[in-house]
Amino acid sequence: MSRIRELPKVELHVHIEGTLEPDLVVELAHDQGIELPYPDAEVLRERYVFADLSSFLDIYYANLDVLRRRHDFARLAYEYGARAHLAGVVHAEVFFDPQAHRSRGVPLHDVVGGLVDGFDDARAEFGVTTDLIACFLRDRPVAEASAVLDELVDMSAPIVGVGLDSAEIGNPAAPFAEVFARAAALGLRRVAHAGEESGPESVREAIEELAVHRVDHGIRSVDDPGVMAQLAAHRIPLTVCPLSNVRLRTVADLASHPLPHLIEAGVVVTINSDDPAYFGGHVDDNFLAVAEQFALTDDTLAQLARNSVTAIFLPQERRDTVL
Ligand code: HPA
Ligand code: ZN
Repeated sequence: MSRIRELPKVELHVHIEGTLEPDLVVELAHDQGIELPYPDAEVLRERYVFADLSSFLDIYYANLDVLRRRHDFARLAYEYGARAHLAGVVHAEVFFDPQAHRSRGVPLHDVVGGLVDGFDDARAEFGVTTDLIACFLRDRPVAEASAVLDELVDMSAPIVGVGLDSAEIGNPAAPFAEVFARAAALGLRRVAHAGEESGPESVREAIEELAVHRVDHGIRSVDDPGVMAQLAAHRIPLTVCPLSNVRLRTVADLASHPLPHLIEAGVVVTINSDDPAYFGGHVDDNFLAVAEQFALTDDTLAQLARNSVTAIFLPQERRDTVL
């Protein structure tokens, strides 16, 4: 629907590794002589049927094996910028998972340098601007997250914030409080995945222990009126990813997605794609899906898009140049 494509959009919840399309996996593997355990991109895509978050993460991490060289990361970033432009995205704050590459022996310098190269090219060609948020993996030791933060600081990595992602159940946020406090002292913004597969207590924990500025997903907040009130009163935005929630079965189907309840309760809701190569669409597709499912008016769609603008981490002087 053109009314959705034409809405100027900001994307706040997209993992750059989750934009790695099957075609690019196969191309990069072929280019480097990496043998893949499937014959082609179509067969890989057929495997994208997920029972839950962890069954998705298994494939997501396995596919990263083809990202080894600085220009692999540049290509990934450029392709996202090109596709985001088609979706009407003018600015994106993009997650990356440093530990998922460092643990495979890829220098963080190549990861960050490559992403910056690709985003620079995409900005020059399409006008889409991007900032980077480094996510810590919550199912890895806190000491590793701390070492990654040190490394990013030492290399003056151009990140605007830190986040927390990977398997939520059994991996609470609280142990990361000290790393997040250190990031805060360095002037970095904070976000965390919470309330995706765990309940509203996980959202409260991210707010209270990590002092996050936004909560990624956060949809299970609807199960606790106290958490809903906390989000609304403090205007803590949720970066909601409807197609991801359907594909990872955190909701039974789109019709039972809590989005309308979150909007109704006055929560600052934003719409995003999460891992578009895996979940059936970019941010425009997510807008389209919820617009149709819930018969959202043009006013509501515009409000959702505006919410993302209010939730960005750009300083005022840069906002005026990109929005
Ligand atoms: N949830 C948690 N961790 C992730 C996700 C997600 O949807 N995508 C990539 N890492
Ligand atoms: Zn996510």
